[in-house]
Amino acid sequence: MVVIWILFLALLREPPCPGRAAAVPEPPGGAPRARRDAGGRGGVYEHLGGAPRRRKLYCATKYHLQIHPSGRINGTLEKNSAFSILEITAVDVGIVAIKGLFSGRYLAMNKRGRLYASESYNSECEFVERIHELGYNTYASRLYRTVPSRAGTKRKASAERLWYVSINGKGRPRRGFKTRRTQKSSLFLPRVLDNKDHEMESYNSECEFVERIHELGYNTYASRLYRTVPSRAGTKRKASAERLWYVSINGKGRPRRGFKTRRTQKSSLFLPRVLDNKDHEMVRLFHSSARFRESLLRAPSKNQRRRRGH
Ligand SMILES: *[C@@H]1O[C@H](CO)[C@@H](O)[C@H](O)[C@H]1NC(C)=O
Repeated sequence: MVVIWILFLALLREPPCPGRAAAVPEPPGGAPRARRDAGGRGGVYEHLGGAPRRRKLYCATKYHLQIHPSGRINGTLEKNSAFSILEITAVDVGIVAIKGLFSGRYLAMNKRGRLYASESYNSECEFVERIHELGYNTYASRLYRTVPSRAGTKRKASAERLWYVSINGKGRPRRGFKTRRTQKSSLFLPRVLDNKDHEMESYNSECEFVERIHELGYNTYASRLYRTVPSRAGTKRKASAERLWYVSINGKGRPRRGFKTRRTQKSSLFLPRVLDNKDHEMVRLFHSSARFRESLLRAPSKNQRRRRGH
């Protein structure tokens, strides 16, 4: 029994890495670099291109790199997948941070060469971007690489080897120390977003509402994402129930803040109506008259914006 447990525990442990993983030393004289959010704009990045580039990374193995909210990294054969939309920011000359737009996490490689999606930005999230033939790039960990062992060498010391971001022919990431610059799995084509990606770009989980049917044909629409959760700490009174935040237009035509809404208020009840003739006429005009379209889509005047608090 004991033997079985030891075998089981041995299986759970990470296999040892061939070669040594070494953290690249800080530049001489330099204080440790402060952590910073590579997703931010301005400041030190201004001269490096400022705003992040939105791209997909298409591997030569035909997979798009995905960064999942669960922390997982893998590839997808799908042309349009929300988790393959990335923000690539230059954080230093030739160094990039790669963030998943929807997961909000950064591509990172740990000292065992495993790719993961990091919630916070740190030096494991920095990659050396190099341009290769046919427009393909490679992304190597800035922090970890295989350093040639010097101790007891009879043979000529091997060269230093970089650890590349890599998605194999099954859509799974390879461990850094197993990668080579020349493998298909390490070559990525940065692609601009297509129309379908742009549609997803502007859609996010704040745009989802729970629709419920109520009496007299009225519906309510509650945020799927946000609600008031009952506080548990130090309760003398009975814990209050969870409360949904409803879409709501008050008696002055203005929206109420979600936490002030109730399911029973008139302001939270909406009747879905079919379009009447005048509505249909507007739709027709919108499609046929450029002038009408422009007047509708024109940005609000400065005064209107100020009143809205922008
Ligand atoms: C990638 O990860 C997602 C989420 O964990 C999973 O559903 C999918 O099957 C994975 N794809 C591959 C090719 O491993």
